[in-house]
Amino acid sequence: MQKHAEAAVDRLALFPDTVQIVAAPDGERLSVGGCDLAGLADRHGTPLYVYDGCTVDAAVTAYQQALADAYPAASGVTYAGKAFLCTAIAQVMARRGVWLDCTGEGELHCADVAAAPREQVLAHGVNKSAADLRMALAHAAVIVVDNLDELRRLASFAGQPMPRLWLRFRPDVAVATHAHIQTGQADSKFGMGWEDIAAAAGFCRANGLRLEGLHFHLGSLIRDVAPIAEAIERTLDLAQAIGLTDGAWTLCPGGGLGVAYHEEDSPAPPIDAYVRGVAQSIVEGCARRGLALPRLQLEPGRSLIARAGVAIYTVGALKEDRWLLVDGGMADNPRPALYGARYTALPVWEPRRPPDGAFWVAGPYCESGDILIRGVALPRMTPGERLAVPVSGAYHLSLASNYNGARRPAVVWVADGRAALIQARETPADLTRRDAPMAGD
Ligand code: LLP
Repeated sequence: MQKHAEAAVDRLALFPDTVQIVAAPDGERLSVGGCDLAGLADRHGTPLYVYDGCTVDAAVTAYQQALADAYPAASGVTYAGKAFLCTAIAQVMARRGVWLDCTGEGELHCADVAAAPREQVLAHGVNKSAADLRMALAHAAVIVVDNLDELRRLASFAGQPMPRLWLRFRPDVAVATHAHIQTGQADSKFGMGWEDIAAAAGFCRANGLRLEGLHFHLGSLIRDVAPIAEAIERTLDLAQAIGLTDGAWTLCPGGGLGVAYHEEDSPAPPIDAYVRGVAQSIVEGCARRGLALPRLQLEPGRSLIARAGVAIYTVGALKEDRWLLVDGGMADNPRPALYGARYTALPVWEPRRPPDGAFWVAGPYCESGDILIRGVALPRMTPGERLAVPVSGAYHLSLASNYNGARRPAVVWVADGRAALIQARETPADLTRRDAPMAGD
């Protein structure tokens, strides 16, 4: 029993900072942000995504504080909205002075609805459409240019207010992560190599465009600062070569800091150590080259939001003492199917019960890959019980689909014992809202 209680405690460390096991008349229960998870599931239904305000806040503070401590020039943090964006999250970030990285028209629209200040909005995208670019010109302070054709297209929108531009550099540095989330290696579709950046810089100069920064992003779920330091070296050489030498430019080394998803994952570097490593590389690299320090802008997604999120599911059946069938899966969390991501879970009720075996947690969708967890030590759970999956805050809902007519889950924000619905569950009517019946029928 003692050992199992310890296993539950290990898993608890993956949950938001405010997680607690609280006593209730019918046994112990998990709570987050002072809110009983079973009560939230009863009120809002499942699958339910719960975000803990304290945990988001602490991660933002950790980045901002570490930058202030470790980087002696101007700096800031951008939230990569692709991790999960909705109006309330955009508002939370904007209020903390965190910029928003928006990919395309859709995310820019969200920043606009949230009234995020224009000077804190940055437009990304690997093949921005004309509509994306127009929206970016209207709502973003900075556009990160991915390629030369995009730059020419932007320049052709004469008469628009000209934005500040950063060029996305592909530094040819690989990181140890899943192949699908590497982005800075030589054969990546993202950004420009050295030659194209030099050409783009020349084009900016010739056309009076405001080239104000260089950006790279090596990939996601990174656990080691060394490749980022290497990419910083190459970027500083490039900056020197294209004449960004006076400190009046921004260096953005992207995001990518990893998080632990499972109690057996080796811990990712803490935010402050990661920021210190990045800052030190720039300070030393600039000193060696006699360059003034550029502004440093970090661009994390997952490490700001992943651990704040918990997904709650309801058990529908326990089949053959192996399959724990729940009411969500690859439609709200495709990460196990896409990247082989490994998750863990705890029962919401009596989370310290000793396990009865290793269960396979699977969803209701018509795909054999719809398996959330392949073998997790759990008690034998009964239909109607709730299961909580930690580290569910990043790249679940933003990758979610309507497969098999799934309705995307409700999202609740919890803080100080209060819960607010920040995104309603989709309804069956939402699934047919865009449909047009066949003419004549
Ligand atoms: N900046 C850029 C330009 C990016 O493309 C990304 C993520 C980030 C920043 C933030 O990276 P983060 O700090 O969240 O690692 N769906 C995958 C992750 C895709 C990441 C895409 N780009 C997953 O679920 O693991």
